[in-house]
Amino acid sequence: MKNQIVSHHLLLCATPRKSSCCDKSTGASSWKRLKSILKELNLENSKRPEGIVLRSKVDCLRVCKNGPILLIWPDGIWYGRVSPKRIEAIIYKHILEGTPINDWIINKTPIKQSNT
Ligand code: FES
Repeated sequence: MKNQIVSHHLLLCATPRKSSCCDKSTGASSWKRLKSILKELNLENSKRPEGIVLRSKVDCLRVCKNGPILLIWPDGIWYGRVSPKRIEAIIYKHILEGTPINDWIINKTPIKQSNT
């Protein structure tokens, strides 16, 4: 993974530390679908011109309700209540088409751009 261009990094709270976040089976199935669809669409290919899509399974994103929570960088878009079906839609619409799905967004935390 050395010196690769990255288009997006997806962080999924899939093994929640807090039971208020989501049930573990929904987290597990969402994570499983995220892994499989990235593979199916060849988005983890290091030779992808737009850059590789990274994924990380996390224990907590400090939201802890309405999960599973999916955070997409560099966009700073937070999705709530994801599921295997929503993961699919998010990958097609947000990652491939560049159109976030507003109805499922729970927060936006854009990164401040430097002027240099
Ligand atoms: S346990 Fe999922 S965001 Fe905290």
